[in-house]
Amino acid sequence: MGTRELGLPEKVPSVYSLPERVTIWEVGPRDGLQNEKSIVPVEVKLEFLARLADSGLTTLEATSFVSPKWVPQLADAEQLLAGLDQREGVRYPVLVPNERGLDRALEAGVSHIAIFASATETFAKKNLNSTVDEQFAMFEPVVTRARAAGLDVRGYVSMCFGDPWEGAVPAAQVAGVGKRLLDLGCSQLSLGDTIGVATAGQVETLIGEFAGVDALAVHFHDTYGQALANTLAALRCGVSTVDSSAGGLGGCPYAESATGNLATEDLVWMLDGLGVETGVDLDALVATSKWMAGKLGRPSPSRVVNALAG
Ligand code: HMG
Ligand code: MG
Repeated sequence: MGTRELGLPEKVPSVYSLPERVTIWEVGPRDGLQNEKSIVPVEVKLEFLARLADSGLTTLEATSFVSPKWVPQLADAEQLLAGLDQREGVRYPVLVPNERGLDRALEAGVSHIAIFASATETFAKKNLNSTVDEQFAMFEPVVTRARAAGLDVRGYVSMCFGDPWEGAVPAAQVAGVGKRLLDLGCSQLSLGDTIGVATAGQVETLIGEFAGVDALAVHFHDTYGQALANTLAALRCGVSTVDSSAGGLGGCPYAESATGNLATEDLVWMLDGLGVETGVDLDALVATSKWMAGKLGRPSPSRVVNALAG
C-alpha cells in the first residue's frame, strides 16, 4: 500500500502562524524549460501546460519573450501562446525584458507579464547585458506601456542572497532594487535565490527589509537543499505566494551554478501536511512530472516525485 492510501502526509497544523492558503506560481514551463540542453517541442510544452492546469495549478508561467539568441529554448513563445488552450481561472504570465518583448507579448494577447531585475552588477550584465541602472531604463517603458494596456506586471529580483561572482549580497542592496521595481508599478515582487544558497535566517532578514509590502513572493532554487526550509521561513513571515517548478526542473542559463527550482511536489507535500490549502492534486502533479521526466530522458530531482511515483 502506498503512503497516499494510508492518508499521508498526516495533516498537523504548525504552532506558528501560517497563511491559510498559498498561491503556487508554477515556473516549470519557463524557468524549467529555459535551461534544458535540448529544445523541447512546442507540442510537449503545450501538453505540459494542460496537465499542470488539470492538476489544479492556477498560475502557470508559460514562457519568455526574450531574445531567441539568448534563450533559444523559448524561441517558440508565439507558437506556444497561439496553441495554448487557456483555461478559465488560470493565468499564464510570461517574462518580458524590453519593449521588443512587450510588443511580442501584446501581439500574442497575454494579460500578465513579469520583468526580471538583478540585484547585482555582474548578473545584470550577464543576464540582461545591462548595468543595474540600465535595467531600470529598459523596464520603465515596458511597465508604463503594459499597465496602460491593462496588463498585470510582476517584478523579479535575482541574486537576492548570493551571487556566484560577487559573493554575499547585502539585504539593503536587494531591497533597493526591489523597491525601485515596486515604484515602477509592479504589483508583486518575487525574491529570487537564483543559485540556491540562502538559508532561513537570511530569508527572514530580507523579508524584514520589505516591512509593509504585502505583495511579496519567494523564488527558491534548491542547489543546497534549502528551498523548502527557506519557504517555511518565508511563510512564517507572512508570504503567501511561492514559486516552484513541477518535478524540480529549472536553472538559469546565465548562472551556471543554478540548479532546479523548489519542486512543486515537495512544496505541496509540505503544505498538505500543514493543512495549508493549495488546490493542487498531488497525485496528478506527480504523474505529470513523471511523464515530463520521460520526455526529457532523465529522472526528476524531486524527492516527493520519486517517493510517490515509485
Ligand atoms: P542584447 O544582446 O544587449 O540586446 O540583449 P539587443 O537589443 O542588442 O538585441 C540582440 C538581438 O536580439 C537583436 O537581434 C534584437 O532584435 C533581438 P539582431 O538584430 O541581432 O537580429 N532581441 C529580441 N528578439 C526577440 N525578443 C526580444 C528581443 N530583444 C532583443 N525581447 C536582452 C539584451 C535583454 C535582449 C537579452 O539580454 C535577453 O534576452 N536576456 C534574457 C535572458 C534570460 O531570459 N534569462 C533567464 C530569465 S531570468 C531568470 O531565470 C531568473 C528568475 O528565474 C529569478 C531567479 O531565479 O532569480 C526570473
Ligand atoms: Mg529562477
